[in-house]
Amino acid sequence: MPKAVSLFSGCGGSDAGVIAAGFDVVMANDIIAYARDAYLANLPKTDYVLGDVAKIEDSAFPSAELLVGCYPCQGFSQGGAREADRRINTLYLEFARALRAIQPKAFIAENVSGLRRSTYKHLLDDQIVQFSSAGEHGYDVVWQELKAHEYGVPQERKRLVIVGIRRDLGVRYGFPAPTHGPSADQPYLTIGKALEGLPEWPEGEYCDDPFHWYYLSRNRRRGADEISKTIVSHMRHMPLHPVSPSLKRIHTDKWEFEEDKPARRFSYREAARLQGFTGKYLKHGGDFVFPEACTHASGQEGNLLRYRYKVIGNAVPPPLFEAVAKALPDVWD
Ligand SMILES: C[S@@+](CC[C@H](N)C(=O)[O-])C[C@H]1O[C@@H](n2cnc3c(N)ncnc32)[C@H](O)[C@@H]1O
Repeated sequence: MPKAVSLFSGCGGSDAGVIAAGFDVVMANDIIAYARDAYLANLPKTDYVLGDVAKIEDSAFPSAELLVGCYPCQGFSQGGAREADRRINTLYLEFARALRAIQPKAFIAENVSGLRRSTYKHLLDDQIVQFSSAGEHGYDVVWQELKAHEYGVPQERKRLVIVGIRRDLGVRYGFPAPTHGPSADQPYLTIGKALEGLPEWPEGEYCDDPFHWYYLSRNRRRGADEISKTIVSHMRHMPLHPVSPSLKRIHTDKWEFEEDKPARRFSYREAARLQGFTGKYLKHGGDFVFPEACTHASGQEGNLLRYRYKVIGNAVPPPLFEAVAKALPDVWD
């Protein structure tokens, strides 16, 4: 089995996909303690290093054939602050450092598609420069925006995926063709299908904060026969479950419920299904396991509901990453 090192690993969405594609993830890293706990509850074989990636010495990276990393995206994402120069937007330099230290045969990086827009294009360009010239041989780097729902994820989620193959191997990478949708063999996976068997009102598992004006400034609901809106990491912004009444637009940025019936957001467990965490990707073969406690490295207790939503919303859908990793050329012997 070829080995992989993962950075910015969160609760393991990208890594579950890489494992399903046939890799052994020998090291993972993240700064959030609950992400580590959730990862290990579902993917227990990996050595998970908790802490700032910048503190990992070059010599501490194990050798591996593949490096994967989904550096954070707060600075680029629709919901986050748009300060292109925040430190968080330069964490790709840590990924480049690991690339130089490990010199794997291939790498996969992922980020939000907003990186293509003019304000941030210089950061994407610099990533390509850094990765192309990393190590003794450098890498042939290609990137593409992929839509998660075209790879069997029941959710609209556009992501920019960057793949590099070490130049001395003399092969090129081609992105996988969609497997779901009108031009593919299988139909899109719907919310209803993905949530089969789950209760309609899972008390205690969803955020029941009031729907404030910002939440109701756009349509947050899709029907059970549609694909979900993007699953986000902030629990208050989570889309509505289809059990909720429809929303109608009454002003430019103002929507209201059509009926006076109870409404609710997706639960964190439903969010995991809508991110594509299914039995196939998890050691138990069932649903994603959420650990019962949330303890920071300092020993301080965290807000469990908030962290459950956060790590799931941050995740890369496993089916998307599996498709990307499976399309890597066979250069492992
Ligand atoms: C987009 S998420 C990655 C999700 C993950 N790949 C998955 O599929 O579940 C980015 C991650 O980077 C982590 N992160 C941010 N700053 C970090 C740092 N300085 N060192 C290590 N991890 C960091 C965040 O905690 C977050 O989990």
